[in-house]
Amino acid sequence: MKIFFTLILFVSLSFCDSFITDMEYGQMLYQNPRGIGCNKCHGKKGEGSVIAKYKEHNRSSQELYDKELVAPPINRLSLQDFAKGIKISKDIMPLYFLTNDEIIILYKYIKEINKEKK
Ligand code: HEC
Repeated sequence: MKIFFTLILFVSLSFCDSFITDMEYGQMLYQNPRGIGCNKCHGKKGEGSVIAKYKEHNRSSQELYDKELVAPPINRLSLQDFAKGIKISKDIMPLYFLTNDEIIILYKYIKEINKEKK
């Protein structure tokens, strides 16, 4: 039985590379990484989006101010800034544990979908 499973694992691993392209892998990572999808905050193509609008109360002036919580655009960053932005998550964005390869594939995917018809 063990041998059977090892064989299945071996066969599927050796075929893995050809099953999906980098584009498909990139799309999977963008929409469904190990955590909440990037698209939920950064928009379909990484153009950025407003996550929430709220009002802030200023005690001294007793006034309400409109505030927005935004996810910045990530479709025009250099690979370096892109990788840094993922690894050093500041406050709102969740921390992801992606490998460098996965970050590069994500980066290429976002570049590619932004190249398609304008
Ligand atoms: C919950 C919403 C949310 C999700 C999900 C999310 N981000 Fe972010 N991201 C943000 C916010 C907000 C910022 C701005 C910095 C901060 O507040 O953390 C940010 C910053 C970034 C930056 C840095 C941008 C810059 O200009 O330096 C990159 C790159 C980035 N995100 C990529 C991603 C990728 C790739 C994913 C998916 C793996 C992802 N984000 C998922 C909200 C999100």
